[in-house]
Amino acid sequence: MTYHRTPTTYVPGSRTLPRDYYVSPAILAEEKEKIHARSWCCIGRAAPLAEPGEYVVRTIADESLIVVRDREGVLHAFFNVCRHRGTRICREESGRFAQTIQCPYHAWTYGIDGRLIAAPHMQEVEGFHTADYPLHEAAIAEWDGFVFVNLANDPEPFDRVWAPMRARLQRYSLSRLSIGHRVAYDVAANWKLVFQNYSECLHCPTIHPKLATVLPYQSGANDFTEGPFLGGYMEIKAPNESATMSGRTCGRLVGDLPEDDRHRAFYYSLMPNLLLSLHPDYVNYYLVHPIAPDRTLVESEWLFHPDTLADPSSRPRDAIEFWDLTNRQDWEIVEWSQRGVSSRRYGTGPYSARESVPAAWDREYLRQMGRG
Ligand code: FES
Ligand SMILES: [Fe+2]
Repeated sequence: MTYHRTPTTYVPGSRTLPRDYYVSPAILAEEKEKIHARSWCCIGRAAPLAEPGEYVVRTIADESLIVVRDREGVLHAFFNVCRHRGTRICREESGRFAQTIQCPYHAWTYGIDGRLIAAPHMQEVEGFHTADYPLHEAAIAEWDGFVFVNLANDPEPFDRVWAPMRARLQRYSLSRLSIGHRVAYDVAANWKLVFQNYSECLHCPTIHPKLATVLPYQSGANDFTEGPFLGGYMEIKAPNESATMSGRTCGRLVGDLPEDDRHRAFYYSLMPNLLLSLHPDYVNYYLVHPIAPDRTLVESEWLFHPDTLADPSSRPRDAIEFWDLTNRQDWEIVEWSQRGVSSRRYGTGPYSARESVPAAWDREYLRQMGRG
C-alpha cells in the first residue's frame, strides 16, 4: 500500500469554506440535491435486515425509504410513497412485514418485493393493471455488512465507485462483525464541520488529551488523499494496544490482520455520509445526516468480533467509552465552530499542512457541488 505523509499532499493556499456554506438553507437544499440524492449513501448495517420481511425506514435527502429483504433474500429500498394517492405508507422505524406492505389510507397492498397485489375497487377502472403500479425503488447495494442506497435514476454502479475501498478493507472482515453498541448524537453544527473535524488530528492535543496519549497526532500517514474517499492511519503508541480507556485491547482481533495493522488505527471519511474508524479489535462508524444548516444527526455503532461480545472476559465498554468521550468532545468543539463561522465577520481562514485532508474534502465537496 502507498501511504503519503500528510504534508506531501498539502495544496498551498488552501482555505476554509465561506460563511454561506454553514448557514444557508438554500445551500443545504442544493447539497441534498447534488450530493446526497446522487451518491451512494450508507444507511447502516444489514443485521436488522437478516430475515425476509424485516425492514428499516431510513431518510436520505429528505426521502423516506422502506428498506426490506424479500422472500428470495434480495434487498430493496422502496420510496415510502403509495402508488395510489401518494400517501406515506410505513410509519414505524423498523419491524417485520408478515406477508405484505399495506397503505393505511385505502388499503392498496404490495408484496415485500414491491409488486402491487391488491387495490380495492380499481378493477372497476378501465385499463388499470396492478403490474403498472409497483412501489418505486431506489438502487441498493450491500457491502461487507453495510447497506447503501442511491436515489439517482441511473447511478454509477456501487461496485465501481467503491472498488478502491473494498480492496483496502477486505482484511478487516467487516461482514462478520456484530453490533455491540449504538448511540445517536444531535449535534448543533453543520454536517461539513463534522466531516472536516473528523479529517484532522491537529485539534487532538487540545480537544482530546486522553486520545492524544494513545494516538500521537503526528504519527501515521494517508493512503487516500484526494477524491470522495479520504484518510489513512495513525500509530497506536506502545504500550497501548488499542484506542481504549485502559489502552488495552478490548477483545479479539476483528480480522486476520498483518503485524503492522495490529498497531494502527485507520480513519476514513467516505463521501457523502460515512465515517469509518478501524482498530485492531473493534470498528466504529458514523452516519452523518444533515438536518438543518446548523444541525446534524450523527448515528454511531461499535462493531466487534462476535467472540468478543460472547466472551464475558472481554471489555467492549473500554472501546465504547473511549469514543463516546472523544465524540462528545468533538461535538462540543464543532458546535463552537458553528457559532463562530455564523458570524458576519467570519471569513475564510488558511489550512495548515496538518489539515491537508479537510482541505481535500472541501475540494471534493465543491467539485460535487459543481463549483470545483
Ligand atoms: S393513498 Fe395509499 S391506498 Fe390510497
Ligand atoms: Fe476529534
